[in-house]
Amino acid sequence: MENKEQFGSSFAAIAAMAGSAIGLGNIWRFPYMVGEYGGAAFILIYIASSLLLSVPIFFSEFIIGRRSGANCLGAMRRLAPRSRWRWLGVLCILTPSIILSYYAVVGGWSLSYLLRSFTLGFPESFGSFTAAPWKSVIAFAVYLGISCLIVAGGVKKGIGRFSKLAIPVLFVLIVVLAIYSVCLPGAGAGVDYLVKPDWSKVSTRTFVNAIGQSFYSLSLGMGIIITYASYISKDEDIVFSGAGTAGFDLFFAIIAGFAIMPAVFAAGIEPGTGPGLIFDTLPFIFCKMAESSPLLGTAVAIIFFLAVSIAALTSSVSLVEVPVAWLTEEHGFRRGKATLLVFLVTGTVGALCALGFGPLAAVKIFGHSLFEAFDLLCCNFLLPLGGLLCVLFVGWKMKPENFHDEFTNGGRLKFNEKIFGVIRFLIRYVAPVAVILIFLSNFL
Ligand code: PHE
Repeated sequence: MENKEQFGSSFAAIAAMAGSAIGLGNIWRFPYMVGEYGGAAFILIYIASSLLLSVPIFFSEFIIGRRSGANCLGAMRRLAPRSRWRWLGVLCILTPSIILSYYAVVGGWSLSYLLRSFTLGFPESFGSFTAAPWKSVIAFAVYLGISCLIVAGGVKKGIGRFSKLAIPVLFVLIVVLAIYSVCLPGAGAGVDYLVKPDWSKVSTRTFVNAIGQSFYSLSLGMGIIITYASYISKDEDIVFSGAGTAGFDLFFAIIAGFAIMPAVFAAGIEPGTGPGLIFDTLPFIFCKMAESSPLLGTAVAIIFFLAVSIAALTSSVSLVEVPVAWLTEEHGFRRGKATLLVFLVTGTVGALCALGFGPLAAVKIFGHSLFEAFDLLCCNFLLPLGGLLCVLFVGWKMKPENFHDEFTNGGRLKFNEKIFGVIRFLIRYVAPVAVILIFLSNFL
């Protein structure tokens, strides 16, 4: 633990956490939610739920990770030896491993579409693409391999260095796209869709969705923040890290909205969400742009799919790191070997998920494909459970003086000292209720 590798700088640490936070959720889900749930009204509610709920949950995970200086299972072993809390550790290793296997399938799609952007040779339809199994399995394996190679490079030289480069590049790409998109003729309707506050669209569902989205977007409940925080120096300010991560995440999500929605409206198409938006609607728009200017259409497509691929990559890297940290710290694996093992196991499971769109389409679990079943299991059950247990652990199980010590760096951070009482209240009472709400909303 003493000479454990660290990120080495505040920027590297925040870039890695922001990289995990910024992902497909920001690109294919947030912009749509903003439009459907009241524009600026939704953004305000989203910011409030981030501040009151998601950031405090982030703090709990950060505290567990940095206090223990260990991977998820090791953290529970150190902070609550020989107790049932080890199951929280197990959960936090299991969930990201399952998510990785299907998230990397989507990463593979984005990589494949990036390559196709160069010739604008997009498939007939997204359905026809995923049904052709081998291409999508190969793209998945390449994408997972790249994620694993970055992790094998180490915390500082692999993940840290990659994130420090990826985050600025990502911002430049998305800002360029947003400027272009907003300037298209007819883009105004898309801008209105995003910014006009429409309180009539605000309902209970809006709140539940805002909470759920901010929770998912900050990569909570999956052991990532615990693991990354164990590589962060004791001198770093937890509030600064939390604000930096949440700030970058929100900024990127909003700009992604401006990159996508105005272009969608300018093309006279109904906005959508999920894979259909990225892999059907947008390629269609890029090809339409190319009819008037082939170079421009191609360039926009390349920039867009490069941004999607990088955003997905920084997230999957964080997923790979969780089980790798566990294998190296708890079982003495070398980093390279641990990464290879993670590649082989998640690679096999993920390949089955990818094949579920083609040859294995008949295999169903409770009526869902493997891909859907994993997604439902993780997002609706395992993530809220992980998040809930983390806040309960820090709020109720951890010694209050240790909680205080970690939050204020031993009383040295005056601002943190001032807000400690509020944060403790949020972690103890408000966050658990909110997470239970997210969970119950599955049954609404
Ligand atoms: N925050 C990610 C996103 O918005 C969610 C995520 C993180 C998913 C890490 C997988 C891995 O897409």
